[in-house]
This record gives sequence, C-alpha cells and structure tokens, in this order.
Amino acid sequence: MELLHTVDEVRQRVRQWRREEQTVALVPTMGNLHPGHLSLVEEARRQADKVVVSIFVNPTQFGPGEDFDSYPRTLNDDAAHLREAGVELLFAPAVEEIYPLGGNQTWVDVDQLGEHLCGAGRPGHFRGVATVVSKLFNIVQPDVAVFGEKDFQQLAILRRMTREMLMPIRIIAAPTDREADGLARSSRNGYLRDSERARAPLLQQHLQDARRAIEAGEQDFRALEKRLSTSLNQHGFEVDYFTVANAVTLAPAGARDRDLVIAAAARLGKPRLIDNITVQRSAGTG
Ligand code: PAF
Repeated sequence: MELLHTVDEVRQRVRQWRREEQTVALVPTMGNLHPGHLSLVEEARRQADKVVVSIFVNPTQFGPGEDFDSYPRTLNDDAAHLREAGVELLFAPAVEEIYPLGGNQTWVDVDQLGEHLCGAGRPGHFRGVATVVSKLFNIVQPDVAVFGEKDFQQLAILRRMTREMLMPIRIIAAPTDREADGLARSSRNGYLRDSERARAPLLQQHLQDARRAIEAGEQDFRALEKRLSTSLNQHGFEVDYFTVANAVTLAPAGARDRDLVIAAAARLGKPRLIDNITVQRSAGTG
C-alpha cells in the first residue's frame, strides 16, 4: 500500500491507473479506523479494481467547542489495518493541502437536507462535509465512493450533491456495522466510560421500539418521539433529537409518509451517539 500526502502525487497515481483502464473506489474517512470502516473498504474492494482510502480530520465540519483538536489521530495503526485489508492507496493530506488558501471561501451547501436532524444542532457541519467530500472527489475522481448508512443524513446529502453537481460518481451505501449488543460502531464510542458503554445499546433498542410501534399502527409520531426521548433521558442520555422523518426529504414525517427513517442523536457522557433505522409502511397503514 502506498501512503501519499499530496494532491499532486494522488492525481499522478490515479492517472496511471486510468491509463491501465483500472476502476477506482474511494472511501473517505477521518481515521481512527474500526471494523465499521473496514466493512466500507470491503465494499469498495467489491466495486472497483483499486481502492483509495482518505484519512483527513476535516476542520470545517467541526463546530466551536466540538472535538477537532482532541479527535484521535492514529495514522500508523490505521495504515497497518488498511495494508492488511489490501488497500492500494492511503491519502493522508495535511490541512494546508486541502485548504490551500487558508480561510476557505468556496462552499458546497445542500440546503434543505442539511437543515433537519443533525443539521439543526450542528450549523455548518454538513456544509463542511459536502465541501471536503467534493474536494476529495476532485482529487481522486473515483468511479464509486462508499459511505456508511449510520450517517444517514450525510449519505443523503452526498447523494444529492453528487447528482445535482453532475459528478460522475456512484455513491454506495454500506450497512451500519454493529457491536454484538447492537451499538453502532463509531470512532467516538472510545470516549464512553464502562458504565456508559453498558447503557449505549439502549439507543438502538429505542429505535427498534419506535419501529415496532409504527409497524403496529402508531400514527402520532410526535407523541412517539416524545415518549422515547423521555425514556432515553431517564436512562442518562441527553437526547438532541429523536425523530420520525421522511426518508427522502428528512423532514418530520406525517401520517401519510410511507418511507420513514427513525433517527436519533444523544449525548452519553462525552460522546454524542447517532443511529437510525428505516421503516417502510405499507399502503394500508395510516
Ligand atoms: O463520515 C466521515 O467520517 C466524514 O464526515 C467524512 C465523510 C470522511 C468527511 O470528512
């Protein structure tokens, strides 16, 4: 596996692959890799001849007071895992390589989709994500890019961006990788203390409870959200949102919506955990 740090080197390598008629998959990450990331890499492996993974802790997607400075940077370990997974190229640029003029003035902002769920409490976050991912797309120019379904809103935004900006890149969604007790794997789970780690699967369990209630005919989504948020708070979570949303627009769902995503974000000690579950309501419901 080659480890490259500059845009020019990556472009040169990809140009060579193109001459050899090889297809390219990109897996953008912020590093501190866990098995969930490696499942994205496996999916990328199935999709293209060459796999590029980027590791870049992107400053523009962190808000004031968020964990940009303390975000774990574990490049050596990450590189060892990726080498083992058979990745061809690891791109680990410095901030100046991705933001060459310092203060960035050019942004990619996906309006409405960015306003709901995590967007409401993290202003500017998705603008930072969409901007850095477009930069990575411009550098690598992959045929496909793989993102996890755990970040449902991020995936929806990047799909929309790719289509609206006419980027010739297929976005592939990989299912959320979970611990044996159901907790969605995340780099930030490492912040959980033992007692919090034991309670963390309750987030997924509450999403499942909501899904079951909807499948059993519950139509008052706002009451359901309130009930389950209250229960999570009683278990020591600080719920940011627990929302039954339209899976396409991400706006709060109404009784007539069929394709739903139940998404939640809650702080448990230091980390803010997110998770989601999709539900298709049959035409007979509601
Ligand atoms: O999901 C992430 O790790 C990040 O948001 C991404 C897509 C790598 C952009 O920085």
